[in-house]
Amino acid sequence: MKRIVVTGGAGFIGSNFVRYTLNTYPEVHVVNVDKLTYAGNLDNLKDLDASRHTFVQADIADAEAMAKAMEGCDAVVNFAADSHVDRSIMEASDFIATNVRGVHNILEAAKAQGTKRVLLVSTDEVYGSIAEGSFRETDPVGPRNPYSASKAGGELLGLSYFHTFGIPVIITRGSNTYGPYQYPEKVLPLFVTNAIDNEPLPLYGDGKNVRDWLFVEDHCRGVDHALRHGTPGEIYNIAGENERENIALTTKILECVGKDDSLIRPVKDRPGHDRRYSIDSTKLKALGWEPQMDWETGVALTVKWYQENEWWWRKIKTGEFLEYYKRQYADRGSA
Ligand code: NAD
Ligand code: TYD
Repeated sequence: MKRIVVTGGAGFIGSNFVRYTLNTYPEVHVVNVDKLTYAGNLDNLKDLDASRHTFVQADIADAEAMAKAMEGCDAVVNFAADSHVDRSIMEASDFIATNVRGVHNILEAAKAQGTKRVLLVSTDEVYGSIAEGSFRETDPVGPRNPYSASKAGGELLGLSYFHTFGIPVIITRGSNTYGPYQYPEKVLPLFVTNAIDNEPLPLYGDGKNVRDWLFVEDHCRGVDHALRHGTPGEIYNIAGENERENIALTTKILECVGKDDSLIRPVKDRPGHDRRYSIDSTKLKALGWEPQMDWETGVALTVKWYQENEWWWRKIKTGEFLEYYKRQYADRGSA
């Protein structure tokens, strides 16, 4: 693989993946296709080697632009998505345009051009909630919010293109991811940056929903591993193996920032809030991948990154973000 198209490469996981790829494979050139929505940020790409990285501002929902960007590529890795559950509950149409129609355009371009690998980055959320045990790749999908439903839609289209047209589609389903460069609408960077500013941490419901936390570099290595060693038509779970109740994550963040629990503000729950996510990644582990970051170190390291990089997040937490924050949290009251 010499030329890899990465979509959504100006976002959180995508930019970490581009950095990981350029650092790991000196022969690879990355074409980074990103629409630069509110979540896309060229600051995430500042330190990259420009001689092996081409940035193209384009919408994956634009079929022509996507086909052009993919010309001559060996593989495409799709990170581009509308990715925040709470936003999908407020308004879902962009989620359908990007997460379903955009994926369709990638599949069509791959079909026309004979692209050797199409990796669709997806999420453990497509399974829905599980009270006990962990989902395997053979379990049926059961998404329960517009974001996860749109991601499942993109996945199913991908599998249909594998079965119908032989397009070499591989799907990964990662757990909740955390680390540097995450847009501060997601719980971890939101709580860290609020805590730094002595602002309340709006904890939904009883705080006992469980998420499995996966460090971003482990997620990137997992995607890369599936891309290079996975089998077309297959799905691979990427678990962090760090399941925590939200309240435990919150107190850990406060401990790392050096603030006390009085900043915790229990608020009205998210509608349809999935209680627990849990996946089993035995299948990807059998190919030689495993998560390397332990949770305590990962959270401490991530908190430190936000403490040391205020230049990065302070300008994000203005304008569009503040409007969103008001809409999302103003009427939440208390739990
Ligand atoms: P993000 O919101 O930080 O970044 C998304 C990027 O996609 C942004 O740069 C944005 O500009 C770009 N984008 C959005 N719509 C686009 C379009 N129509 N055309 C081109 N670019 C577009 O998201 P993230 O957290 O980095 O997630 C990346 C991928 O990983 C998504 O597919 C998401 O579903 C998946 N995922 C995320 C997590 C997580 O915890 N963050 C976990 C599992 C899977
Ligand atoms: P989030 O980061 O939005 O990821 P996802 O919904 O994809 O899992 O939320 C992670 C967990 O944190 C989820 O259970 C919802 C909860 N949460 C809060 O309690 N307060 C918040 O302000 C946010 C954004 C999330």
